[in-house]
Amino acid sequence: MTRATWRTRLGFVLAAVGSAVGLGNIWRFPWLTATNGGSAFLLLYVVVVLLVGVPGLLGEMVIGRRSRRNPIGAFDALGARQWRVLGGLALFASVVVLSFYSVVGGWILRYTAASATGAYFGAPQAYFAAIDFGPAAVGFHVLFLLATVAVVYAGVDRGIELATTVMVPGIVLLFGGLAVWVATLPGSAGGYEFYLSLDVGYLRANFFDVLVAAAGQALFTLSVGAGAMLTYASYIDEDRSLVADGTLIAVLNTAIGVLAGLVIFPLLYSLDLPPGSGGPGALFVGLAGGFADLPFSRLVGVVFFGVVLLAALSSAISIFEVLVAYLVDEHGFVRSRAVAGVGGLFLVTGSAAAMSPSLFSLLADTLANLALTVTLLGFLLFCGWVLGRDAIAEYELGAGRIARLTSRPWYYAVAVVVPLFLAFTLVTGLGTLVGVPVSAPQAAVVAVAVVGGTAVAARYRAEPA
Ligand code: PFF
Repeated sequence: MTRATWRTRLGFVLAAVGSAVGLGNIWRFPWLTATNGGSAFLLLYVVVVLLVGVPGLLGEMVIGRRSRRNPIGAFDALGARQWRVLGGLALFASVVVLSFYSVVGGWILRYTAASATGAYFGAPQAYFAAIDFGPAAVGFHVLFLLATVAVVYAGVDRGIELATTVMVPGIVLLFGGLAVWVATLPGSAGGYEFYLSLDVGYLRANFFDVLVAAAGQALFTLSVGAGAMLTYASYIDEDRSLVADGTLIAVLNTAIGVLAGLVIFPLLYSLDLPPGSGGPGALFVGLAGGFADLPFSRLVGVVFFGVVLLAALSSAISIFEVLVAYLVDEHGFVRSRAVAGVGGLFLVTGSAAAMSPSLFSLLADTLANLALTVTLLGFLLFCGWVLGRDAIAEYELGAGRIARLTSRPWYYAVAVVVPLFLAFTLVTGLGTLVGVPVSAPQAAVVAVAVVGGTAVAARYRAEPA
């Protein structure tokens, strides 16, 4: 059976943008910006996206396109069976992310419907508390999952490509419209000030924390570390510029994140709800509660949650597809059976997360970040120290002068600089997690040992005595 491919280049780019643009942009990004020094964070974030996110994204895409396989099979196809465990980690990361993502997707689905009837308008706090976890949350998680299943079931080109070709422009248009509309609301001006203010003092005092926050966000928002971009790139059938596509994906993703902030903060200010702390419920309690006071409140609610729903769905399908690709490539499943199997898995794991707030936060707050970082670290070390020249060749394939000019700097970023950075944040993060604070020099030593160790091991394997 021939392997699925994208129909057009634009279709691939839009599918990847659909994967990148999601809850991370709409909820996490504006909040992180606002609570980490405003536009100073924005600037740092853009730098991290360019120096860490884009090289990382391109590394994943290089592995995917070169192997034309799923995250586990990719290492077989590239003659490195012993790295398959890394693919297993990517699948694990996919399960972690979609299990909680689908619960939030369910909340959003419910709020889209509840906006039409105004169900939560009177008592937003009580409404959210009644539906966030428990059987009702399970029900809407299942509905969200079914929507994901329907798109993935229809196939790579006729399902995912077609759906995202409609959804992504839809997200931009609807959010653009909302951004213009909220600008006309009285009191919205304070929101722009809050969002785009420049707090250099804050940044200076908390540089390290802000940097780690920006790094985590850069990975999550670009969908790297779970094999989603690897899998999407494995469906590219012509050799065209990965650099151009990857950069475009990152630019569009950041632009849509900024746009989301231009809707959310002015809206909060016009509702006289100065932003407090973030957290999973804030979108549903603070913002949604305010909708009741707006003109055309129901319409506003449906449009707002409708866009968030599109964004969440177009991300969820990319994670789901990682596991489907694995079953199809490695175990010879026909697509429908693979989709049913993966759907069954998420039925269980997502329902568990929808029943248990502690499992939900374990997945969303802790495991997701760790799993994405570890996997991406491994992918990049593989690119840099095992693929080596082949990675550079793949990076340059089908691309023009810019790719040839940037291929060396990219290679050093992927082999050395980004892995050092990822290992450093990982060690620091793990230290905080287990309650053993790790100092910056200690973390740096471990990071150098990880990258150096890989380099030595790769050399040793390449030239057996
Ligand atoms: N990029 C998505 C977001 O910002 O919401 C989340 C995500 C999708 C993470 C796919 C990882 C992934 F593989």
